[in-house]
Amino acid sequence: MDPTFEPIIKVEDYTFYYPDSQVPALAGINLTVRPGEFLGLTGPTGAGKTTLALALNGIIPHFQGGRLAGRVTIAGLDTAATPCARLAGVIGSVFQDPEAQLVAETVEDELAFGLENLAVPREEMRARISAALEMVGITDLRHRPLRQLSGGQKQKVAIAAAIALRPRILVLDEPTSELDPRGSLEIVNLLERLNRDYGMTILLIEQKISLLAPRVPRLVCLHQSRIVADAAPRQVLGQEKLVAELGLEVPPVTDLFRLLSRAGVYHGNLPLAVDQGRRELDRLLSHESP
Ligand SMILES: Nc1ncnc2c1ncn2[C@@H]1O[C@H](COP(=O)(O)OP(=O)(O)OP(=O)(O)O)[C@@H](O)[C@H]1O
Ligand SMILES: [Mg+2]
Repeated sequence: MDPTFEPIIKVEDYTFYYPDSQVPALAGINLTVRPGEFLGLTGPTGAGKTTLALALNGIIPHFQGGRLAGRVTIAGLDTAATPCARLAGVIGSVFQDPEAQLVAETVEDELAFGLENLAVPREEMRARISAALEMVGITDLRHRPLRQLSGGQKQKVAIAAAIALRPRILVLDEPTSELDPRGSLEIVNLLERLNRDYGMTILLIEQKISLLAPRVPRLVCLHQSRIVADAAPRQVLGQEKLVAELGLEVPPVTDLFRLLSRAGVYHGNLPLAVDQGRRELDRLLSHESP
């Protein structure tokens, strides 16, 4: 990564209390993200993941009050001093609960809504809507009323609506919680493509580490309002105490190789996906055979 790049997300000594709460939901957060990074954010329930997403897209402090200290800067804009509408042109959000996010009658109207707010011309709007629906694989839902869709389909609509705006940063809060394994994989593959082909900076909040770990170069863990790890997934998942304390769902193949490693049988990098594990196993067995 080019160290001369200005950070696209900068969180400095950020602490936030919800109204009437004596316990901070975020405490002393420092996080720097460079343009084009693909970042995973995980941690147990109540750790503060959603709160951090709200601090990034400006909902905190513009729509969600509370006490805060520190600063969040997005593409050079101080979020506390920049209206949400302006931030929305830079940072797209997919919320944990798609119900709370979707406002229109039909899928097409939902995608058009955000584009109208950004004053995108009609012709371009139509093209962007088609492209976003196609990317997420829901072209067939274009004219369907939102209220008829399943939870997973609504999640896909929310993702398509965010992508249609072509933000420089995309923050997704557990976007696969209502999707089946195949649908979840499709979404994560799509995010990988958006990151690789368009250089979109992506922050993916996800509890399913098996989905996250093989893909993101950097994994941040929140626990009790603080960042307790910020490193490559292999390094994070190699920390047994941390994994146990946070109850992180380590991919079974990683766990298996951790056992082999502890038994002194394996000395390489911990595999994060089954295909990596298979390669390591082949290597291990070929060394052992005479
Ligand atoms: N609107 C609110 N008012 C008061 N407290 C809140 C509010 N929203 C969240 N909290 C509290 O802030 C803390 C962090 O919550 P947050 O929703 O950010 O966690 P999370 O990591 O996203 O959890 P989950 O994995 O369950 O989505 C929790 O203790 C929660 O109870
Ligand atoms: Mg949450």
